[in-house]
Amino acid sequence: MKLLVVGKLFVNSQLSAPNVLEIPFDPAMAAVLLPELDKPDYCTMSPGWSSDIEWISNDSFRSYKVFLDCFERLGLAKAFSTIVDYEVNLVLYCGFFVRRSRCTEYNFHLDWLDGCDNNAFTLIAPLLQSEDSPGLAYRDLHGSIKKYSYRADSAIVFGSGFVHSTDLGSAESPSVLLSLTFGTDKMEHWGAISKTAASQSRLFRLPCGLFCNKLFD
Ligand SMILES: [Fe+2]
Repeated sequence: MKLLVVGKLFVNSQLSAPNVLEIPFDPAMAAVLLPELDKPDYCTMSPGWSSDIEWISNDSFRSYKVFLDCFERLGLAKAFSTIVDYEVNLVLYCGFFVRRSRCTEYNFHLDWLDGCDNNAFTLIAPLLQSEDSPGLAYRDLHGSIKKYSYRADSAIVFGSGFVHSTDLGSAESPSVLLSLTFGTDKMEHWGAISKTAASQSRLFRLPCGLFCNKLFD
């Protein structure tokens, strides 16, 4: 995959999109992760898009550790250490399962808003999908809508400026994706990053390593 790197920002010429890349993913991880959906220490939120999408996030130290094991196994801290501005190590903010079977209207958005500057990233990898499962839609460098199909042996990882949505479609059965949010350990960047990382789950980890549980807000 060709990347044009300009400082911390880069362009993926194959996908014709900013700050996005694919990394290898071991499909065997699905067998370990999918049974987690039957466990009680997760929190489910629905963003209210034109979809039955559910964000099922870690809601205990135990379930956070499940995603932390994925984060470490994928070598994300090392892989992104040349892009992210960090002090000691990169931090996993939160892990999710994303479950959905249909999407009837695009909801194009940025995960990481102004000021994040590729100091935070989202990883998505498929754990369970069928032929008719909706993939990912994104806007390329010219603003055109492009389609990305998830593959069992790949994860897509994106930072700032990557405009995307669940693709339109309807499947007979729900697909399940793994999603990890991670990035800098510098609290000075948290203001911008928190607009996303602190809004998607009840329990998340701060750049400094402390955990925040919104139950106690
Ligand atoms: Fe997103």
